[in-house]
Amino acid sequence: MSKFKVFITRPIREEIRAKIAEECEVDMWHTSAILPPIAERIPPLDGLMTYGHEPVSPEMIATAPNLKAISVVGVGYDHVHVETCRERGIAVGHTPGVLSDTTADMTMALLLAAARNIVPAYNHVQVAKEWHYYDPNILWGTDVHHSTLGIVGMGRIGHAVAKRARAFDMRVLYYKRERRPDWEQELGVEYATLENLLETSDFVTLHVPLTEDTTHLIGKAELALMKKTAILVNIARGPVVDHYALYDALKQGQIAGAAVDVTEPEPINTDHPLLDLDNVIVAPHLGSATIQTRMKMMTMAMENLLAGLKGEQLPYGVLQPNFPQ
Ligand code: DGY
Repeated sequence: MSKFKVFITRPIREEIRAKIAEECEVDMWHTSAILPPIAERIPPLDGLMTYGHEPVSPEMIATAPNLKAISVVGVGYDHVHVETCRERGIAVGHTPGVLSDTTADMTMALLLAAARNIVPAYNHVQVAKEWHYYDPNILWGTDVHHSTLGIVGMGRIGHAVAKRARAFDMRVLYYKRERRPDWEQELGVEYATLENLLETSDFVTLHVPLTEDTTHLIGKAELALMKKTAILVNIARGPVVDHYALYDALKQGQIAGAAVDVTEPEPINTDHPLLDLDNVIVAPHLGSATIQTRMKMMTMAMENLLAGLKGEQLPYGVLQPNFPQ
């Protein structure tokens, strides 16, 4: 029997590639350069593993009549046109759960870095080499402990962030479509409307999936509700925030700072005005980027891919094979 044909959009670890190659003919995009249109790779393919966020559009899927499975190395699958997959009976898998703690750690890292001027400190000492004496009057930050954190989108990652924030003695507000009294009980978090959360929080952190409803959820009007001393953290998806509104808010002192792990577009254009501000930290989508977590994600994605190709139940499925049409 001939092997399944699979395309992987970014280099994955050799041991994972080798395991997939036992059952599949693997074509992997090897360099860090921008991908060619995935459609060029798709026509004879049975399986696609997306490691990164290159869009998988209806047009691309239409060029791949044999496509049986799309395996996303990540929890978010907003770059995959799931409706088309559903119509075609293509299985779609992702890697939920395994990255929640890691992404929550990164959320706290961004929040703390912004609150305590870690990047300006690094620039001062190691880049500008300007630390000539102990100056107690420079780089004052703002307290994280006993401040108020607003979590927008309280799923698995939001829950993990809340746990960490409570350990910092923060008051935690959350906004979510369905209220979670069990989590209020467990963690001592308080439900709030989005408006109330934005008005009350010292830090606002975003953890919603990207959908039509959450696109530009945080724009000019929402930023205007925030405290002038507040810091915004976005580790969800870039388009959840209107970046030009964010630029204006940071530039005009409408909010004090921001730390974002995701941008719109991604990567952000190098001439984007946001990059010239000194009250914003921009990280290159590192939420789940630890050795341990990325290895687990690749393993789960491999299991999903192989199951989907064989028409078996995906262990971590968004859509199972031959989903009813
Ligand atoms: C995710 O898991 O969705 C992260 O953004 C990495 O892709």
